[in-house]
Amino acid sequence: MPNPGLSRTRPYPFARLRKLFEGIVPAEGKLKPISLGIGEPCHPIPQCIGEAIAQNISLMSSYPGTAGNPALREAISAWCERRYGLAPDPATEILPVLGTREALFSLVQCLVDPTVKGGAKVVMPVPFYQIYEGATFLAGADPVYLPLTRENGYKLDLSVLSPETLSQTQLVYICSPGNPTGSVFDLDDWKKLFALSDQYGFVIASDECYSEIYFEEGNAPIGAMTAAKACGRTDLKNIIVLNSLSKRSNAPGLRSGFVAGDRSLIASYLLYRTYHGSAMNPMIQAASIAAWNDEAHVVENRRLYREKFAVAQPILNSVIDAPMPQASFYLWANVGEDDEVFARELYRQTGVTVLPGSYLSRNVTLADGSTMNPGAGYVRIALVAEPERIGEAAERIRNFALSRK
Ligand SMILES: Cc1ncc(COP(=O)(O)O)c(C=O)c1O
Repeated sequence: MPNPGLSRTRPYPFARLRKLFEGIVPAEGKLKPISLGIGEPCHPIPQCIGEAIAQNISLMSSYPGTAGNPALREAISAWCERRYGLAPDPATEILPVLGTREALFSLVQCLVDPTVKGGAKVVMPVPFYQIYEGATFLAGADPVYLPLTRENGYKLDLSVLSPETLSQTQLVYICSPGNPTGSVFDLDDWKKLFALSDQYGFVIASDECYSEIYFEEGNAPIGAMTAAKACGRTDLKNIIVLNSLSKRSNAPGLRSGFVAGDRSLIASYLLYRTYHGSAMNPMIQAASIAAWNDEAHVVENRRLYREKFAVAQPILNSVIDAPMPQASFYLWANVGEDDEVFARELYRQTGVTVLPGSYLSRNVTLADGSTMNPGAGYVRIALVAEPERIGEAAERIRNFALSRK
């Protein structure tokens, strides 16, 4: 029998999108399709990555260790110190992972114990990155969905949970900057979360893979490490930070990221990964060192996103409610109608793909017993296409939205 959690998983948003568009000829074949649906970076891959790969092909002749090369862990630690003001110990507090996706999944398999009386709960935001939910199901735990709404600033608010739920909670996913809402946890939010983690003993898995996509140089979003340092928690107790080169360095295909945090959790996770068998290719490790050591390409990357937001956001916001995010490359736009219908008709008439917000979300029952879906009526617009196509896509969306008023 397969893992029973598999039957609890839901179709992935992009599979649902393909189904939604089945049989449609976009714009009657008259316009070139533009995809703002998938959050896949399209900017150039930095030169330092290509060079390091070319220079280190010979490294593939040996098996990599699960903990990675010490030089990679040192480069990550040095980057954390520059970025967050805290240098995790490269020997005990950092592990390379093959992108955050697999780590967001496998961490839960390793750190959650579903055999405890009453079962295990994992708290997550909705809308969300669906891996959080699948990881929870496959670990034999139950998700607790917390809605991100305009009213709560699109931030995870654990204060609505009962002490009973909190005491069953073993892990909380934080996504800051958030996909899809672009909201950022501030120091006060972190303080409240740390206090609850101290009280109830849950692990904080801080998904920070959009941390480098922000709009004002010198004003980077704070992360869990910065907050931990500000609170004197330099041991990173119960905190695991996840980040990767996918968005920062436009290299999603490299499959390179890291986890850093609480040394006892990292020790368990290293043991888990030894069996899991996902050591990083040594050539990719060399390329990752080069990428973490170089900030110039990241500054340029941000400049390109800034340019695209400057073009698209005012056009879109003039007809649909599409405010600037605090960070990330998404607009989380309230379209004022059924999000699936909006996305399907937009694709049919204009060839532009956006993702229906309800595909990233779930129905949530509120304290008063009512039910809501915080993704309903929203679409996620990923500003990932080439800069010259973003303006055209925004114009097409505007004209479409105007035609529906
Ligand atoms: C919120 C979030 N977390 C994690 C990931 C996975 O990124 P990667 O595995 O490339 O690091 C994504 C990818 O889109 C994401 O949106």
